[in-house]
Amino acid sequence: MILKAENICKSYPTSAGPLEVLRDVSLSLKEGELISVAGPSGCGKSTLLNILGTLDQPDKGTLEITGKNVALLDDESISRLRSESIGFVFQFHHLLPEFTIAENLMIPQRLLGRSEKTATDRVTELLSKVNLLPRYNHRPNAISGGERQRVAVLRALVNEPGIVLADEPTGNLDVETARQLMEMIQNLAKDFNQAFLIVTHNPDVAALCERNLTINEGTVIPAP
Ligand SMILES: Nc1ncnc2c1ncn2[C@@H]1O[C@H](COP(=O)(O)OP(=O)(O)OP(=O)(O)O)[C@@H](O)[C@H]1O
Ligand SMILES: [Mg+2]
Repeated sequence: MILKAENICKSYPTSAGPLEVLRDVSLSLKEGELISVAGPSGCGKSTLLNILGTLDQPDKGTLEITGKNVALLDDESISRLRSESIGFVFQFHHLLPEFTIAENLMIPQRLLGRSEKTATDRVTELLSKVNLLPRYNHRPNAISGGERQRVAVLRALVNEPGIVLADEPTGNLDVETARQLMEMIQNLAKDFNQAFLIVTHNPDVAALCERNLTINEGTVIPAP
């Protein structure tokens, strides 16, 4: 298992008292596996991804990533584990507006200490794959919403992480572009043994995943 979560609980403090969002969530992700997660707005999908991605801490439960118990690591080791092993596609793209598309894809690689040549070659390779090489020097506000979404997916993949956590990666895309993106994701999962956990409401996207899960009353269950 590349990721294993057991009995994860999470509440948010609010003025009306604690708001229980996740209750005893257990979930494992195998190398190269594609899993979809659905559930109504506000049920805790983004909360779950943040916890699995070590961006937020659970109140209870254990999380193992690449065999390491995250609770036993110091902050620096967690950051390192995150940049090496996890890629994020956020619900809203979170590209850095003051940098070009190419620079947005260079930054995570620099954080890993890759050479400029290796990093530049990787950017060119990825942008070519999704026909966005002509947008290399554009800033995020000078490309379309769907193009931003695709760049956000590429950024999650740029360091070849074993785990990609994606929050509605096809949310703003038309049917054909969504299909192309999913095809790319499937190929990567197969070729590089990358596991994907994809939050999606799109039945076509879920149909391409090996397992379909849903969040119901704070727990993760197989989708009906
Ligand atoms: N920082 C916070 N403090 C208090 N409540 C929060 C906080 N973040 C999220 N919530 C609440 O927790 C619940 C779960 O939020 P979350 O963002 O995980 O939902 P979601 O399933 O991703 O929804 P959507 O499909 O709309 O993106 C919601 O009811 C939300 O209002
Ligand atoms: Mg969400």
